[in-house]
Amino acid sequence: MCGIVGYTGKEQAAPILLDGLDKLEYRGYDSAGVAVYDGEKIQWMKARGRLKILREMTHDGQILPGTCGIGHTRWATHGIPSNENAHPHFNETGTIAVVHNGIIENFQKLRNRLAEKGYTFASDTDTEVVAHLLDYYYKDEKDPLRAILRTMNRVEGSYALGIIFQDHPGQLYAVRKDSPLITGKAADGNLIASDVPAILKYTRDVYFIQNEEIVCMDADSLRFYNVDGEQIEKESVTIQWDVTAAEKAGYEHFMLKEIYEQPRAVIDTLNPRIRDGKIEIEELGMTDEEIRALRKIYIVACGSAYHTGVVAKYVFEELARIPTETDLASEFRYRNPILDEGTLVIVVSQSGETADTLAALREAKKQGIRVLGIVNVVGSSIAREADDVMYTWAGPEIAVATTKAYSTQLIAEYLLAIRFAQARGTVSEAEVDEMLAELRRLPEHIELLLGNKERIQRFANRYIAARDVFFIGRGIDYAISLEGSLKLKEVSYIHSEAYAAGELKHGTISLIEDGTLVAAVLTQEDLYKKMISNMVEVKTRGAFLLAVTNVGNTEVEKTADYVIYIPETHKYFTASLAVIPLQLFAYYVAIGKGCDVDKPRNLAKSVTVE
Ligand code: M6R
Repeated sequence: MCGIVGYTGKEQAAPILLDGLDKLEYRGYDSAGVAVYDGEKIQWMKARGRLKILREMTHDGQILPGTCGIGHTRWATHGIPSNENAHPHFNETGTIAVVHNGIIENFQKLRNRLAEKGYTFASDTDTEVVAHLLDYYYKDEKDPLRAILRTMNRVEGSYALGIIFQDHPGQLYAVRKDSPLITGKAADGNLIASDVPAILKYTRDVYFIQNEEIVCMDADSLRFYNVDGEQIEKESVTIQWDVTAAEKAGYEHFMLKEIYEQPRAVIDTLNPRIRDGKIEIEELGMTDEEIRALRKIYIVACGSAYHTGVVAKYVFEELARIPTETDLASEFRYRNPILDEGTLVIVVSQSGETADTLAALREAKKQGIRVLGIVNVVGSSIAREADDVMYTWAGPEIAVATTKAYSTQLIAEYLLAIRFAQARGTVSEAEVDEMLAELRRLPEHIELLLGNKERIQRFANRYIAARDVFFIGRGIDYAISLEGSLKLKEVSYIHSEAYAAGELKHGTISLIEDGTLVAAVLTQEDLYKKMISNMVEVKTRGAFLLAVTNVGNTEVEKTADYVIYIPETHKYFTASLAVIPLQLFAYYVAIGKGCDVDKPRNLAKSVTVE
């Protein structure tokens, strides 16, 4: 996730900007840059790679004179990590500089329009359209605030922007919509940043900028405006946290922060691919004819990414009627799978660096098979080597246990399945509309489930001493169980297994004792009855039964000892909701036991060895 900073005051700006960017490193980035007004013009420097490189290039900022500037750490979204794509971005004359955090969803349309008006582009980023739009409106208005307001009317998506205009020395502008932005008043100047740690060294008096609010500042004053350009008053808040706590935005752990970031991550992955009520996956690179020619899909991945593939198998097969196999990358690469014309291999990876997944991709490509990557980290090895890449916009995931990447991988797979079904004519337009409407509702449903965390926490506290926990389900619910079980064992070190509910009695049921916790996931209405039978089987052997089911399925209360209801959604998308309480359960059990949830023992965030 990108980080932005800005300063205007009496001190040299560049060292303060670099200092702020240091504090935003935890957000993840692949390039960095600063722009400063030096008293005559805007000067800038950018560098791909670590901030250290930018520090060396600028002698810790010393070679950039000037007291007003903006800085950025970029986590690539549109365009690979490179010097050209690093921020700040500029209008053609270099008199307007912009840093941006977020995604401009309609950037392609805007880029085409601006190109028609003669604007040329120096990068592949979505952000550059903002610099040119500002230029376009500034020429007309001659007033930065008016130019910003008119630009806001044109851009869709999420943004926190820091902007300086050469014609307005010492003035710094910032605006946000759906991306975080704060501003602070320090003794010798004013600052903006994506997050509190970047400015804590200079001030603890912070204003939280709300959606569509604009701040205009110089060395001595701060003014706030609403979307109509009217000046508004805001109250500052005194920050009491220390820097480490501030990086986690007040959450105790990154895992919890990332669990809470899921509604936003889902929106960012979904919205750019639904235009005017239709699915548009520009990066797919397959024609309808090629989709119709598909005879087999392999989804290949590891760990949680593999679990999303298990969900997707059900959806691809039912919806698009394409035989789909989901395979562990470590197995796929050595088992000589039958790959022939008409096969598509989809590899799924958060990091894009997982050794087995990368090897599976290479194996498929060696056999001349087309590979589509679903990847979170832009410019990663899998993203570079796959034929086509569909990015999940989860932002950097820091906790080892994946949560928001898992949720966004599901979204990417649902979208693909619907798109394939449309191309193959296995779904009606009315069904597509219904599914898209349900997908759009997922973020608010996730919010609702997150709002219920106390109840799950109380339940989790009862199980911190558990020895074994079993998760059971059928169909998609089995896939959800796999993820619930992995989440619990990796962060809490409690032994846990996921079982297809019908398979339990073929051996594993012998492990059920008095009080063993069995979490039953039942979100597939046509399988309720079968699931209840399996629940009764374990209950009669002493299990304590937790059920995760759809709202309205009160029948389950006759069998389950504790029930968590998820909001109603389309039957294909229940994994996106049922996983939330299971993530929270794992998290609270782990912290109840005093485990290091963000860095569980023996695990690495990116597994680059086979
Ligand atoms: O980066 P990847 O998505 O390729 O990683 C795959 C697995 O290593 C990963 O999902 C792992 O299982 C997680 N730690 C689970 O939370």
